[in-house]
Amino acid sequence: MRRTCSTLTLTLTLTLAVGVAGPTLAAAPPAPAVDHGAEVAQRCAACHAVGREGASPNNGAPPFRKLTARYNPIGLEKALKRIGRFGHFEMRPQQMSDADMADLAAYIASLEAPPAGK
Ligand code: HEC
Repeated sequence: MRRTCSTLTLTLTLTLAVGVAGPTLAAAPPAPAVDHGAEVAQRCAACHAVGREGASPNNGAPPFRKLTARYNPIGLEKALKRIGRFGHFEMRPQQMSDADMADLAAYIASLEAPPAGK
């Protein structure tokens, strides 16, 4: 009888704990990352086309919206992080954080999707 009682208490406690932890586990909406990524992209806009259309100011630099064809998402994020740390081509290292670059990757991925409402 005692045993049954404590099992019930345990079950109740667990249920409560899961109930409280549940909402915190829900993923944050991606929009802030994409917005911040768009800001980070402005640092690259001197050479790259960073929007949905237009040519890159620097002929040799690929428009960001074309990068999703060249890289899978993991590869793109890795490449961006490397560039953030070490710079690339004529661009000097800018000490951009991995978090900046993860947001930039989210922004670049969003360029591929059709604009909202279309
Ligand atoms: C000074 C000009 C310049 C700036 C500023 C610049 N880039 Fe580039 N980037 C280039 C050029 C040129 C290439 C093309 C090199 C090639 O493919 O031979 C390139 C290529 C790339 C590529 C493709 C690399 C590959 O190997 O496929 C990525 C990704 C990239 N740039 C990211 C960035 C990011 C992110 C920023 C801003 C933080 C940035 N670039 C700023 C000039 C620039």
